[in-house]
Amino acid sequence: MPITNDDIARGLRQHPAQISPKYFYDQRGSELFEDITRLPEYYPTRTENAIMQRHAADIAQAVGPGRTVIELGAGNCSKAEALCRMVRPACFVGVDISADFLAEAVERLRRTCAPLDARAVAGDLTQGVVLPSDIPRTGRLVFYPGSSIGNFDPPHALALLAHMRELAGADGALLIGIDLPKDVGVLEAAYDDAAGVTAAFNLNVLAHVNRLIGSDFDLGQWRHRAFFNAAEARIEMHLEAAEPCEVHWPGGSRRFAAGERIHTENSYKYALPTFTDMLARAGFARTQAWTDERGWFAVLHARP
Ligand SMILES: C[S@@+](CC[C@H](N)C(=O)[O-])C[C@H]1O[C@@H](n2cnc3c(N)ncnc32)[C@H](O)[C@@H]1O
Repeated sequence: MPITNDDIARGLRQHPAQISPKYFYDQRGSELFEDITRLPEYYPTRTENAIMQRHAADIAQAVGPGRTVIELGAGNCSKAEALCRMVRPACFVGVDISADFLAEAVERLRRTCAPLDARAVAGDLTQGVVLPSDIPRTGRLVFYPGSSIGNFDPPHALALLAHMRELAGADGALLIGIDLPKDVGVLEAAYDDAAGVTAAFNLNVLAHVNRLIGSDFDLGQWRHRAFFNAAEARIEMHLEAAEPCEVHWPGGSRRFAAGERIHTENSYKYALPTFTDMLARAGFARTQAWTDERGWFAVLHARP
């Protein structure tokens, strides 16, 4: 599955400019995301892990043993490790755009969860997930934690869920984490931490883009911005030009006025009934959900 980046220059020419959040994840971006998950303000990872631990027996019963677990956006595989201990799969396939970071994580998983047939598949899940032909077609569990589904606008999220339904197969299932609506202060702090790690993560996308398309973004000219857009029920992350600047790349250029932004990420927050309805429309009619005491996050097991 080749990873192309033709969309970057296109996005930079748009008004407002945009860069897909998938370009956050070069090696440094993956490491910075790992740092984010440990921040006091970043509740999603901690909350999702606590739900998985607290309801481990129920989740294990719903999933069943001996599955082929396919994790999309597997990252450092730390959630995969917890899940594998819980459900004892026959096979694990981690899919991620950050190829080297994933390969190391899967190698670690192979050791910590031995004997486990664990595979790393580098690829862009927005281009359709293509698995090696020897991956079993039955007994699949698609695992998509971290509320990453929130990075897609609702129509694209629905299309991706429908793709997961295909990937899971007739006897398969989906285990997915979603971030629920909550106090705006809590949400905004999670995406704009006091230590500036999320700011560094957001800015790093420009360094990655410079390498991918040969552009000349000067990171010092850009500031991190994150806020809740209530009308769209989403956190938005942007990079804002601190001063007028011009960016060049082979075949193009763009002037930015001071205060002009590049939109780098959305993170939609779904109420549980809205998301359950979306799952049903994607072909997952039967769902079981677990949440934390504060109702901040939910883990859902969904079957056709
Ligand atoms: C928010 S992190 C979540 C990591 C981990 N699953 C978790 O829950 O902590 C998103 C992960 O998805 C990967 N990713 C982002 N966009 C992707 C894409 N289009 N295709 C494949 N992987 C992608 C990133 O490299 C990263 O590891």
